[in-house]
Amino acid sequence: MYSSKANEMNDQNAITKSDKHTVSIQNGQEYDYSNTTRDNIEESNNNSILKAVNISKVYELPAGDTAVLKNINFSVKKGEFVSIVGPSGSGKSTLLNIIGALDRPTAGKIYLKGIDIFSLSDRKIAKMRNQMIGFIFQSYNLINRTTVLSNVEIPAIIAGMDGKAVTQRALNLLKILGIRDKASLKPLSLSGGQQQRVAIARALMNNPAMILADEPTGNLDTKTGEDVFRLLKMISSKYNRTIVMVTHNPDLAQETDKTIYVRDGKIEKEIIN
Ligand SMILES: Nc1ncnc2c1ncn2[C@@H]1O[C@H](COP(=O)(O)OP(=O)(O)OP(=O)(O)O)[C@@H](O)[C@H]1O
Ligand SMILES: [Mg+2]
Repeated sequence: MYSSKANEMNDQNAITKSDKHTVSIQNGQEYDYSNTTRDNIEESNNNSILKAVNISKVYELPAGDTAVLKNINFSVKKGEFVSIVGPSGSGKSTLLNIIGALDRPTAGKIYLKGIDIFSLSDRKIAKMRNQMIGFIFQSYNLINRTTVLSNVEIPAIIAGMDGKAVTQRALNLLKILGIRDKASLKPLSLSGGQQQRVAIARALMNNPAMILADEPTGNLDTKTGEDVFRLLKMISSKYNRTIVMVTHNPDLAQETDKTIYVRDGKIEKEIIN
């Protein structure tokens, strides 16, 4: 059993039905494909949101080239909750950053909803990242000089949206995550688990196609980490969100739909849980 705050999420249907200003978690703008040419759309696209094809990453260091990712191939289906596990230094974060277009591969392609993201201009990549991907990091990465509410609104503001509907949606997400009462506080006055909930709300703000989380429970004690994981599970099952999560916790990994084991920059195995 987790905290009573987390249980407030059970009320979310009532929330969305009773408040006419509420923007449903499902409603959000879609990425504008109009400027995307046929060349960078994969024709044989099925149910997969994400496809990594022959991804490699080599760092050129004074001591010589270091291959950190070697010929990585995998795909993630819409609504799937995938975990990535592996020893420290095996390349998990490097891989997640490439999936999320925060970093470029040395070779290989990432297809997001069938679009070859690295074939796009930097400006379009940034736009796609803002509209299609929600990031959650181990250290929360919140802006501490502004309020919890403003932190959650930021992705929408970057996307050029503003006004009451944005605030209402941010407040609704905070309510779903059980921290509506913290909206006007600064992030540093919240506990670690609460700060991570803010980061989850922020990640959901633009209704992304995919949520990427790099050790989201890594800074939290066992119980709080479990609470945060339950929230991600709820977002996955109830809202059919696609999530890729790096974790060192085998118990949590086992509770996801599929676990990808990374070792020395390669996929060692994929297990359906
Ligand atoms: N900018 C960089 N320049 C050179 N080497 C790098 C760089 N970033 C990462 N590496 C190396 O790539 C390897 C993989 O790092 P990565 O952060 O992806 O590992 P990880 O699996 O996420 O580890 P952890 O579980 O400790 O977070 C490491 O050996 C790291 O030193
Ligand atoms: Mg890492």
